[in-house]
Amino acid sequence: MNYAIAIDGPAGAGKSTIAKILAKELELIYVDTGALYRSIGYFVTQQGIDTADTAAVVASLEGLKVELRYVEGVQRVFVNGEDVSDYIRTPAISMAASAVSAIPAVRAFLLDTQRDIAAANSVVMDGRDIGTTILPDARIKIFLTASPESRAKRRFDELQEKGDPATYDEVLADMIKRDYDDTHREISPLKQAEDAIPVDTSGETLEQSVVRMKEIVYSRLAEG
Ligand code: DC
Repeated sequence: MNYAIAIDGPAGAGKSTIAKILAKELELIYVDTGALYRSIGYFVTQQGIDTADTAAVVASLEGLKVELRYVEGVQRVFVNGEDVSDYIRTPAISMAASAVSAIPAVRAFLLDTQRDIAAANSVVMDGRDIGTTILPDARIKIFLTASPESRAKRRFDELQEKGDPATYDEVLADMIKRDYDDTHREISPLKQAEDAIPVDTSGETLEQSVVRMKEIVYSRLAEG
């Protein structure tokens, strides 16, 4: 029987790093759902569409094909057959992704893509609404948080490694805005599922968080 581990939480809490490690150890497929919203943010930006223009964003979904494919076990996201994975991690696309993710038609558009993968495979899926909306029957649900400052610091370090010129203050301001938007949107806001286990990683190294998450997941799996 396939099963799912849902990891939700705000940007920069360590979801993807932890989910990838769990997926590897447990031989599950890792599904980064943020990449789906990012690919639409990227697509509409490329089309010159203002993400605030809901009608235009919705119209652009007509005939659009967004797919997740796994190349040597690594998730890649394709838009109309083109691999856009390398273009979707910039601060501008983060904001565009957050904006389009508040549009109900965008969420509906991506719903089946996410559920179909989880129906066909055992998965670790990370996002904002996996435990509440996409996979309400997930076997284990974790709500991963950390203070905005520690999340911004991690994201800033990642961007610096890539040579991105964003400053820490810009990253923190973007993070706070994105948190606000993601938790205040009307549809599927970022919210802890009632049956999710809260894990706060503030002040922990990634290694410490990974150890803690593994303990939680393995003890839950052992419970059956
Ligand atoms: O996890 P991320 O930073 O890659 O996500 C980018 C944006 O996409 C995020 O600001 C909110 C949105 N998102 C969402 O609304 N629901 C998800 N399941 C995943 C991401």
